[in-house]
Amino acid sequence: MNYTYDVAVLVGSLRRDSLNRKLAHVLAGLAPPALSLDIVEIRQLPLYNQDEDGTPPAAVSEFRTRIAAADAVLFVTPEYNRSVPAALKNALDVGSRPSGRSVWNGKPAGVVTAVTGQLGGFGANHHLRQSLMYLNVPTMQQPEAYIGGVDKLFDDQGRLVVDSTRAHLERYMDAFAQWVARFPRD
Ligand code: FNR
Repeated sequence: MNYTYDVAVLVGSLRRDSLNRKLAHVLAGLAPPALSLDIVEIRQLPLYNQDEDGTPPAAVSEFRTRIAAADAVLFVTPEYNRSVPAALKNALDVGSRPSGRSVWNGKPAGVVTAVTGQLGGFGANHHLRQSLMYLNVPTMQQPEAYIGGVDKLFDDQGRLVVDSTRAHLERYMDAFAQWVARFPRD
């Protein structure tokens, strides 16, 4: 029996023409058939406020329900000031509460960072991994994906035009499918 894994994709950039969002679409196209990638929006989430744990805003409840239903999570994010963009960190915080009911717990994940510079978002990638370790999110270790020069990867239709990057991302998604399949589904 073939099962298709539901992968929630969180894009760390909110801007309309985000290169990371383009990359997320490319990754969805490169993923093997065992994975179905779906971008789950984070822009509507209010800043996490513990006072609202008892009566969460609808956007918060919907987000928690969507993540809880996913088999896996793929983070595709830029680096902001050598760390994780605040909107993405907020999404992690929102999903982590109320205490003891984190929707991240045990969910396999992957991290792809993409920036216009040459360091590939190493700082954001590893700051994100620090939070994921605490949240008990088993995160694929190899291969890694630090994408530099992301502004030079796409044509004006958002198609990936660099063959070496395509090959790397294909390998990444194949490995991610194997990683996700290692973990039991709820
Ligand atoms: C950046 N950028 C950036 N790049 C980097 O390699 N390291 C960094 O620390 C930062 N810091 C940073 C902070 C802020 C507030 C912005 C807006 C940008 C540049 C970043 O990689 C570039 O703008 C990407 O194109 C952002 O990704 P999206 O929005 O295209 O997906």
